[in-house]
Amino acid sequence: MAQSKNQRSENFLGTERLNNSNGRNRATSLRVTLIPGDGVGPEVTSAAVRVLEAAGVHVDWDVQEAGAEALKKRGTAIPESLLNSLRRTRLALKGPLETQVGQGYRSINVYLRKTFNLYANLRPIRSFEGVQSPFRDVDLVVIRESTEDLYAGIEHQVTPGVVESVKVITARASTRIARFAFDYARRHGRKSVTAIHKANIMKLSDGLFLKCARRVANDYADVRYDEQIVDAACMRLVTNPRAFDVLLLENLYGDIVSDLCAGLVGGLGMVPGANYGQKGAIFEAVHGTAPDIAGKNVANPVAAILSGAMLADYIGYQDAASRIRQAVGEVLRAGHVLTPDLGGSATTTQMTDAILSAIGSIEARV
Ligand code: NAI
Repeated sequence: MAQSKNQRSENFLGTERLNNSNGRNRATSLRVTLIPGDGVGPEVTSAAVRVLEAAGVHVDWDVQEAGAEALKKRGTAIPESLLNSLRRTRLALKGPLETQVGQGYRSINVYLRKTFNLYANLRPIRSFEGVQSPFRDVDLVVIRESTEDLYAGIEHQVTPGVVESVKVITARASTRIARFAFDYARRHGRKSVTAIHKANIMKLSDGLFLKCARRVANDYADVRYDEQIVDAACMRLVTNPRAFDVLLLENLYGDIVSDLCAGLVGGLGMVPGANYGQKGAIFEAVHGTAPDIAGKNVANPVAAILSGAMLADYIGYQDAASRIRQAVGEVLRAGHVLTPDLGGSATTTQMTDAILSAIGSIEARV
C-alpha cells in the first residue's frame, strides 16, 4: 500500500519516523521496495526479511533487481521498474550494489540518494558485548550529507594527463544536514555534535560547510558544538572514540569515517544505516557486496538485520525494532553462533536462526 502524503512528516524532524502509531494496528501491510542487491546482498537481506517477519513487522515486499545482476539480466543497472517502485513506496530495504572501480556505470547508490533526495545518511556505531573489538562502550552516530560534495560526479579531462573533479558544497545542503544532526542530537539526548572538515585547506567549500554548521549550532544551546580537522579526528577516533557523540560530515569524509568507525566495533558486518529524505528513506548496511565471501553463506547478517530494525522503527513498529536489537545483542553476548568475521564458524543462516530463536524467547518472556 503506497502511503498517503499526510502519513509522512513534511518536516525533517520526522524523517526518522513516519507519523503513524504502532504498526501492529495497521489493517493492511505497508508496501516496501526490497532490493536484494549484489554479492552478499541477497544472503543478508533475506536474513533481515526473515527477522522482521518473525518480529511481527508486516510488510508487503516489492522485490526489485538493481546493480550488476540487473545489468546482466536486463541490460540496465537501474531498471525503470525499480525507480517506479521507489516512486510509489518511497521506502526500501536495500542490499549493497556493485560499482566498478575507475570505470563502468556510475554508482547506483549515489544515483538513488540524489534522485530521491535522501540527503541524510545516518549510521549508528555501537559496541556489542561479546564482539571482539579494540574498544568497549563505543556509542556514536555518523551523520553524512549525501547529495553533493565530490560525489556530484562532475569530472573531466582538462588535457591528456590532467583531470579535474569538482567538489560541490552548497549552503542549502550544508544547513539542512546540520539541522538534521542537531535535531537528531536533541531528540536522542546526545550531548554534542562535532563537525569534521578540512577547511584549513579547502577554505571555500569546507569553510562554507562550517559556516552553515555554526549558524545552525546557535539555535541549539542545549547541544555542545565543536569542530575537528578530519585527519586529527581520525586519529582521535582510533585512540579515544568515546570522546565523540554525533559526527557531522560532508559526503566523502562521512563515507571514509564510517568504515573507520565500523572497525572500532567489530567490522563492517556490524554497522547498519539509513538514508533519510523529506519524503522517504532507504535502509541499508554500511558494507558493500563483499565479493570475497559472496555466495558462501558466511556473511555477517547483523548489519542488514539492524538496518531492518531501523526500518521497523521508521514505519511505526518500535516494539518489534527493540525486540530485534535485543535478540541480536543476546546472540552476540552468548557468543556461540557467530559468523567467521566475529571469530566464529557459523553460517549466515545459522546466525540468523539463532536471532530468530532469541526473538521467540523474548516474546515468550513478555
Ligand atoms: P565491502 O564492504 O564489500 O568489503 C570490505 C571487506 O569487509 C571485505 O573483506 C568483506 O568480506 C568484508 N565484509 C563486508 N561485509 C561483510 C559482512 N556482512 N560480513 C562479513 N564480512 C564483511 O567493500 P569493498 O570490497 O570495498 O566493495 C565491494 C563492492 O561493494 C564495490 O563494488 C563497492 O562499490 C560496493 N559497495 C556498495 C555499497 C552499497 O551498495 N551501499 C557500499 C560500499 C561498497
